[in-house]
Amino acid sequence: MLRVLVCVSGGGTNLQAIIDGVEQGSIINTEIVRVVSNNKSAYALERAKQAGIPAVCIAPRDYEDREEFNAALLRAVDEAQPDLIVLAGFLVVLPKQLIRKYENRIINIHPSLIPSFCGTGYYGLKVHEAALARGVRITGATVHFVDEGTDTGPIIMQKAVTVQEGDTPEILQRRVMEEAEWVILPWCINLIANGQVTVSDGRVYLSE
Ligand code: GRF
Repeated sequence: MLRVLVCVSGGGTNLQAIIDGVEQGSIINTEIVRVVSNNKSAYALERAKQAGIPAVCIAPRDYEDREEFNAALLRAVDEAQPDLIVLAGFLVVLPKQLIRKYENRIINIHPSLIPSFCGTGYYGLKVHEAALARGVRITGATVHFVDEGTDTGPIIMQKAVTVQEGDTPEILQRRVMEEAEWVILPWCINLIANGQVTVSDGRVYLSE
């Protein structure tokens, strides 16, 4: 049974896709053991509560400094003894100690086809604003392992989404979430839970 800890900051629609996948059986051999948020008012915490999943809020403002926050975040993660950490709309820069301790056991969902529109400053609607400004015809989402860079870890899966005439950032974000994020994130978790994902020399290999 894969013990999954999900980190959230906002609405939690990606968390909900994982919850639904476990409940409906498209994600097997998996248990969501804890949800961690940095934002007390994140609706994702309500989603966790409704699903009966233990949740904690580790908010930077509750700690003296970044070091204290990082230590509290690491404790909150370690306590749950996760096999996999999923960043689902989590807007906090992870402490390097956490990334090193859980090397190749942290995945992130990014709302573009990396290496486009990613890296520092590209999150949430900003990603879709940049895609529309550039005039791309295709965008999408990427699931990747987290390394010490920003959106630079080995790519596990991507799914393309068309940009349509008249799209606003909000419309495009919703389509990318519905058609890509909520599909590939649960899919990747299921693959990992069933031993079908390996990483070698910075490349990901998927097995049947
Ligand atoms: C969204 O912008 C999504 O594209 C990205 O994180 C943000 C919040 O998603 N992955 P969620 O609804 O909190 O899962």
